[in-house]
Amino acid sequence: MKSFDIVTLTVNPSVDKSTHFSGLIPEQKIRCKDPLFDAGGGGINVSKAIARLRGNSLAVFTSGGPVGDMLKDLVTKEKVTFEAIETETATRENFVAVDDNTNSQYRFGFSGDTLTDVEVEKILATIQNLKPKFLVASGSLNEGLSSDFYQKIAKIAKASDTKFIVDTSGEALKKVLETGAYLIKPNVGELAKLIGVQRLEMEEVKEAAKKIITQGGAEIVAVSLGPQGAVLVTKDEYEYVPAPNVAKKSTVGAGDSMVGGIVWALSQNKSLKDVIRWGVACGSAATMNEGTQLFKLEDANRLFEWLKSK
Ligand SMILES: Nc1ncnc2c1ncn2[C@@H]1O[C@H](COP(=O)(O)OP(=O)(O)OP(=O)(O)O)[C@@H](O)[C@H]1O
Ligand SMILES: [Mg+2]
Repeated sequence: MKSFDIVTLTVNPSVDKSTHFSGLIPEQKIRCKDPLFDAGGGGINVSKAIARLRGNSLAVFTSGGPVGDMLKDLVTKEKVTFEAIETETATRENFVAVDDNTNSQYRFGFSGDTLTDVEVEKILATIQNLKPKFLVASGSLNEGLSSDFYQKIAKIAKASDTKFIVDTSGEALKKVLETGAYLIKPNVGELAKLIGVQRLEMEEVKEAAKKIITQGGAEIVAVSLGPQGAVLVTKDEYEYVPAPNVAKKSTVGAGDSMVGGIVWALSQNKSLKDVIRWGVACGSAATMNEGTQLFKLEDANRLFEWLKSK
């Protein structure tokens, strides 16, 4: 198989079905219009974002049953190369519905079936064999999967000199930090929890990120601040990039698009200032599209140029 600089991992992917309806009324049949199907899950979204930027990555994900087959078709349509690890249980589906009367979005998510020990070992062995330059793990863990799963991945990455990028939260992220990652992308709330405080003010973000770096948790901490943009912190660098003002439709997929932009820019050896600009450009461009859709290349390019001119 061709070797890839970037590999993404999604252990709990989904097929996201989105639709529109008019009026949420109990006991009645609600007519849903024009369903759209998207391949979902953190790592897959990151691979899709990289493909939009004309980059290459290999998406490793689990897949089972007819929904798994559909997932593979959808990933192929996105022009993303993949390696699917077949599972006994079926891939999950998520459901997103917009009420046209109120323009409110309802998001129904399922947790994703337990993986067998053999399947978990197969994922670990697959990652161990690939030895890419950059490995991105993102998204939720399946029901019953131990919270040290991403830490195991971090250990594999460390042993093969792979730069590990992880976008997760809570206990799973804390455990990764014990081993150490190359880059983490918490949002400000996730960062606060990580260092054990209720909330963080803007001016406290830098110190919180520094603390993680000093303790050896990560080399780069990119903190996303929603409509305020993002900061990137390393041992000796600090960059703040404001988010451009855009016509926001849906923030679903903004975080994954940002990680996609960051990883793509790193793989192109861009400066760290440009890395975080690409992250913000892709994240903000994603908010300009409806539902689970990510971003358009022309929007990301335009926002990047605008950020560069600031
Ligand atoms: N309302 C907004 N306007 C402009 N840009 C936005 C907005 N919300 C998010 N973004 C962009 O997307 C990036 C990531 O958003 P955010 O901080 O919400 O990530 P997140 O909480 O990880 O998102 P997710 O819910 O997708 O996991 C931001 O840094 C910013 O560039
Ligand atoms: Mg996120």
